[in-house]
Amino acid sequence: MPTSQADPWRQAFHITPPVGLLNDPNGLIYWNGAYHVFFQWNPQGCSHENKAWAHVSSHDLVNWQWLPTALSPDESYETHGCYSGSAIAADQSLFLFYTGNVRTAQGGRKSSQCLARSFDGLHFEKLGPVIAEPAAGYTNHFRDPKVWRGDGQWWMVLGAQTTDLSGTVLLLRSPDLKTWSVCASLLSPGEHGYMCECPDLFSLDGHDLLLFCEQDEQLNGQGERVLSNIAGYVFGRLDKTAKTFQHGSFERLDQGRDFYAPQTFETPDGRRLLFGWMGLPEQTTAPTTDFGWMHCLTVPRELSWIEGRLCQEPAAELQALRKTSYAFRNVTANGSLVLPDVSGAAFELDLRISDDLQGSWFLDVRSLNDERTTLGIDRELGRITLETVGGAAFSPLEQGPTILGSSRIPHQGVNRVRVFVDRSSIEVFINAGAISFSARIYPSERAEGVRLRSNAGVRFFRIDFWPL
Ligand code: FRU
Repeated sequence: MPTSQADPWRQAFHITPPVGLLNDPNGLIYWNGAYHVFFQWNPQGCSHENKAWAHVSSHDLVNWQWLPTALSPDESYETHGCYSGSAIAADQSLFLFYTGNVRTAQGGRKSSQCLARSFDGLHFEKLGPVIAEPAAGYTNHFRDPKVWRGDGQWWMVLGAQTTDLSGTVLLLRSPDLKTWSVCASLLSPGEHGYMCECPDLFSLDGHDLLLFCEQDEQLNGQGERVLSNIAGYVFGRLDKTAKTFQHGSFERLDQGRDFYAPQTFETPDGRRLLFGWMGLPEQTTAPTTDFGWMHCLTVPRELSWIEGRLCQEPAAELQALRKTSYAFRNVTANGSLVLPDVSGAAFELDLRISDDLQGSWFLDVRSLNDERTTLGIDRELGRITLETVGGAAFSPLEQGPTILGSSRIPHQGVNRVRVFVDRSSIEVFINAGAISFSARIYPSERAEGVRLRSNAGVRFFRIDFWPL
């Protein structure tokens, strides 16, 4: 059996499980002088079972230390998993809120919202359910508590499904972390699929943002059921007294194929950072399962609000990963261009383009012969596309180019592209992060080529490259 460490797709700078399956980031917090990241983890294999909370911590958001498993599903109220949730600091302690998931013999489910406490940030004592069952009018799809402090009390958002099977997010409040009452349902029934998972609510630049993952089911032209899982946000104004949330339409948070269950937290210097899961609920295989592991988190991203859009840029701390740097000025791509020293399996690339640019251009990474992953600024299509060709297929059914994401070219054009490539992933940030793409890729080990292609004489006034 090959070990995960021998794996060419083992990530160099992303949070990854040593074995087993990772999903949602949980309990993100800066506490007692360190960043803590927990995540959904099946230590026993690559299936969605036995969910525990793995725990890593860091002083710099770059070097992560693996710590003992924080929560394992060993109580009667969580037999089928310690599901997602959040962390808060209070009374010299670190508290974790999570969902206890129980499957019944009849195939149903029971959900309760549970609390655990730690004095040292290492050992967690379970205090049991604080919300023992769903509120009246809601099913047992009732999960993923995100808790914060505001206006002298505790607040929680919780993913929920009404008894007529529509998704929403509930707002609850508590004076003491233990007794909770429902204040409001934040979304209109019937508008957000059959379930809204992993909610997160915070203010950014004067706007109230509600992040959540919309799960929907539709019939396609052939009458087949098609499931969709979309991580996105709405923004507007939350009035806790009037119990209303006026908001606009649901926007996707990331245009890539592999992005789900994001969670945010605040740094000591007041930045709002986000980690997402670079995976999706319906994915059951990946080439890394041959090496005993599956999925990873995204890099940490700083959120900002620019011209009515939520933007994401890699956290500044990631600059510590940079070793040697290579800089190029006034580079013109006419035909195919390979820059000296610019290649590799793990790197950061920053391209700055004159914004009056009209021509199409394409960036190939992880390329070797016919194999490549390509970001295209395609003026003919009016679209930015990310696709991969060759390498190990994500699923045995895939052949030929695989579309990893697509988005319209913004009206102001594309003036900056930042790319983070790790051994089995690519993350792209366009302009100030108004558009991002996150996707897993499985290139062959020697596919390290980087190339710019254009027939339009596209001029990059600056290109920076750092092997990571
Ligand atoms: C989202 C999710 C959450 C749940 C967790 C279980 O990916 O389904 O709603 O708490 O995963 O692992």
